[in-house]
Amino acid sequence: MPAEGLEDMRISNDRGRTRPYAKRTEAAPIGSLISRRTVLIGMGASAASLAACKTPVAREGSTLAFREISLMKTPGEVLPEGYRSRIIIRWGDALFDDVPDFEPATLTPDIAARQFGVNNDFLAFLPLGDDPSRGLLYANHEYPNPHLMWTGLSEHGAAREMTDNQVAVTMASVGGSVVEFRKSEGNWQAVRDSRYNRRITATTPMRISGPAAGHPKLQTQADPTGTRVLGTLSNCNGGVTPWGTILTCEEGAGEIFGGDWQSAPDHALLKRYYYDDTDNDRWGWTRVAPRFSLENEPNEPNRYEWVVEIDPADPTSTPVKRTALGRFAHEGASTTLAPDGRVVVYLGDDWEFEYCYRFVSTHPVRPGGAAANRDLLDDGVLSVAQFEANGQLKWVPLVFGQGPLIPENGFHSQGDVLINTRSAADLVGATPMDSPEGFAPNPVTGTVIIALTSNEDRRDPDPANPRANNRFGHLLELRPPQTANGRDHAADTFAWEVLALCGDPAIPDHAARLHPATSSNGWFTDPDNIGFDPAGRLWICTDGVQPSGHDGLYAMDLEGYGRALPKLFYAPPAGAECCSPTFIDNGATLLLGIQHPGEGAASLDLTPTRWPDFDPARPPRPSIVAITQVSGLPVGD
Ligand code: FEO
Ligand code: CA
Ligand code: CA
Repeated sequence: MPAEGLEDMRISNDRGRTRPYAKRTEAAPIGSLISRRTVLIGMGASAASLAACKTPVAREGSTLAFREISLMKTPGEVLPEGYRSRIIIRWGDALFDDVPDFEPATLTPDIAARQFGVNNDFLAFLPLGDDPSRGLLYANHEYPNPHLMWTGLSEHGAAREMTDNQVAVTMASVGGSVVEFRKSEGNWQAVRDSRYNRRITATTPMRISGPAAGHPKLQTQADPTGTRVLGTLSNCNGGVTPWGTILTCEEGAGEIFGGDWQSAPDHALLKRYYYDDTDNDRWGWTRVAPRFSLENEPNEPNRYEWVVEIDPADPTSTPVKRTALGRFAHEGASTTLAPDGRVVVYLGDDWEFEYCYRFVSTHPVRPGGAAANRDLLDDGVLSVAQFEANGQLKWVPLVFGQGPLIPENGFHSQGDVLINTRSAADLVGATPMDSPEGFAPNPVTGTVIIALTSNEDRRDPDPANPRANNRFGHLLELRPPQTANGRDHAADTFAWEVLALCGDPAIPDHAARLHPATSSNGWFTDPDNIGFDPAGRLWICTDGVQPSGHDGLYAMDLEGYGRALPKLFYAPPAGAECCSPTFIDNGATLLLGIQHPGEGAASLDLTPTRWPDFDPARPPRPSIVAITQVSGLPVGD
């Protein structure tokens, strides 16, 4: 079904083009995966999780009942029959009464900082009290694309072409938003001027806490204490803590900084964080904020690439950079609890050949919400994953004084270990991965899925990254040991297996491994954000899907016949990717971020779009949509 108001964009479905098994067998050794599950169930290892699992297990076919769509390059959204999509908030929507209507040409930083930001990525929806018709939406705003925000700018020359005002607007348009929503006549609607509404930007004052706080490498002219910093950058994915705060993840900052990285005293650290291999001053920010010049402030980069905790229920609270969770290109920070109540955070470093991490708090979560757990994330152990060929995964702690993390190797404190997390992980022999992105525990079964987008530079496959020249990406499933109180996410050792190798199973050269019944629309590449519905089924957003360049949202069972059988559910407007599939209303509503509509229209030969306004005088606008079934049934059922 088309989005409301977009009837003319409707695309008919491509029905029943599931290919016969016979054409698939050579490229789809799924039988080994299924038999392994059968063995595990037989041993009782996952019987408890299955008993707790609410997933309807189909004898044949997927439990996902929607009719699969075709991947289409259209200016609007494409949904299965019986579904509808509603935009609940767009870039530029006013969060406060005194904000003028959205008008890009007259934007100022003050106005932009009181509107919903641009290019929303991670989103979360938190209950507000006991009233099921109220909630707080949090969204990340990852990066600006000035050539889409304003007319007359080129994609690669915008840093030079923007006025200083436009540069300052881009700094005010990124970061995050907190917005109250209320349900009215069945629809979630933003509450303008709510006391909870808040914008976080690239200039919002923040605190640095944890073992690296105050470290000399975090000190600058403006902040000799090394504990106060302005803004959060490149906010990609994130997480929600069990005490109701948001974790927003800084995913690299190299392209933001200007100046010569080799001029910095510790240029080896900058090189390990890829400052030699990124765009430079990509949005011209050094013009209005000289702290982003490496020559002015060589330590300023060290104050980014952290996980930042925000209390959305307290609009006056100061966001806190939690250094105990390490410094790298954090894709996300998904949380769960160990059986003893300690919080566990899964963290991927989204770069080719980088690592998968896990943080376990020292203390258990206390009742009493955010106030009772204010500094819980400052104290704990960060570990990095070592995947072994025998299907075991070892979590290796990154603790100063242990193993090679000693002064002889340049580490003099835990702060040193955390500021240069990547080098510490190199030394302990972590397994280099194919760009870890989505990394989250299944709330129903307790297994943990990792989405690895791709790594075309891989020459030497290993068991966890089993394809050289990994163009298409893959999915892994981790199995923490089962205990009487659920899976032990804090255990030193997990089991793991390959869940799927992405690509077209009909093309032997792709070496894809998906369910043999995967349709010609159902296979995908470049898995990025993942989410779970209340039945524990996996929803996967692609980023850079090949060969079409047109991304989508796919869903698959993880249990039963339909394990690793993906189906294409949704196609966003041309040039956009989907982000952060989030189920609310007991699964009846799927919130989905639609990021960068219209991006790459020329280079990818995509249909240009001015979604969602379709006004020739207005740019395309990144938005969040709410997807429901007309029948009111849960999404996917
Ligand atoms: Fe912001 Fe890893 O994508
Ligand atoms: Ca991502
Ligand atoms: Ca992405």
